[in-house]
Amino acid sequence: MDRVLILAIFLTLFCNFSLIAEVESTKFKIVNKCRHTVWPGILTGANRPPINPTGFTLKSGKSKTLSMPTSWSGRLWGRTLCSQDSTGKFSCETADCGSGKLACAGSGAIPPATLAEFTLNGDQGLDFYDVSLVDGYNLPMLVVAKGGKRGGCSSTGCLVDLNGGCPAGLKVARENGSETVACKSACEAFGDPRYCCSEAYSTPDTCGPSVFSLFFKHACPRAYSYAYDDKTSTFTCASADYIIIFCPSPFTSQKLLGARREAAELPLVNKSMMYIGRQHANGVSSGWVPEQIMTSAISVVVAIAQFLLLL
Ligand SMILES: *[C@@H]1O[C@H](CO)[C@@H](O)[C@H](O)[C@H]1NC(C)=O
Ligand SMILES: *[C@@H]1O[C@H](CO)[C@@H](O)[C@H](O)[C@H]1NC(C)=O
Repeated sequence: MDRVLILAIFLTLFCNFSLIAEVESTKFKIVNKCRHTVWPGILTGANRPPINPTGFTLKSGKSKTLSMPTSWSGRLWGRTLCSQDSTGKFSCETADCGSGKLACAGSGAIPPATLAEFTLNGDQGLDFYDVSLVDGYNLPMLVVAKGGKRGGCSSTGCLVDLNGGCPAGLKVARENGSETVACKSACEAFGDPRYCCSEAYSTPDTCGPSVFSLFFKHACPRAYSYAYDDKTSTFTCASADYIIIFCPSPFTSQKLLGARREAAELPLVNKSMMYIGRQHANGVSSGWVPEQIMTSAISVVVAIAQFLLLL
């Protein structure tokens, strides 16, 4: 008799826990692996449940976990080189939201900005997510889905520092300096409908990739590089939590990324483009890392990662 009772209590508790797990919100863990401070900004989509905070400070090496409302949709990005002037007005050199305060409070990122975009609990209960360079680029970003039950749940992002290699016409230099701090989209830089997928070019059939969008796509094959880059850039997962990392190392462990089918078809980082930032930073010819040494280094890292996976 007692045993039945204990079993009943156990089952009740277990069911309650499962129910709690069902209704629990999606967690976003936002991690700053950059050597500098990042000021994340968050914009909620129209008619979606709001989230607080909409902007905060994240020092190098720190992280912050947010509970996102069910069915939340919106975007998240990292502002850099922010400061407050003598009148108390807050602004950032890249991806500023123009609010004059730390909180973005309903304002989006002023391009160029690398954007992580989410629609939670969409069609068939799936979360849809991507990392977009359609509005340009300012920081390397990675989105990792953890504990997902359905969908591909692949990691996506742009792991390469594209500021160093940014084409001349797209560069944004630091205020009062020469250092490139962001890289514009061709649409923003030239306003040509061909690059913006607008006017006569407003359908997937009429708007294709350009030499500029290919610069982004080659370096970061999984990120959105122009408005209709859907096929290779949108990822889905159900009931997952997400880790959003600023400045992930290009060697981010295989264990974290998971060994998924989709991932095998589309590399997260184009190895031949990986050192684009460093090459330019060091002055072209002197900074080159011989390709063979690079390839061996990558193989060793991959081998170590695979070994760790077996443990
Ligand atoms: C850039 O220079 C101008 C004029 O010298 C100055 O007012 C401004 O504060 C400087 N901005 C930064 C970020 O140093
Ligand atoms: C990697 O970059 C090279 C040259 O920049 C390009 O030809 C190739 O298509 C890229 N690979 C991917 C998967 O985008």
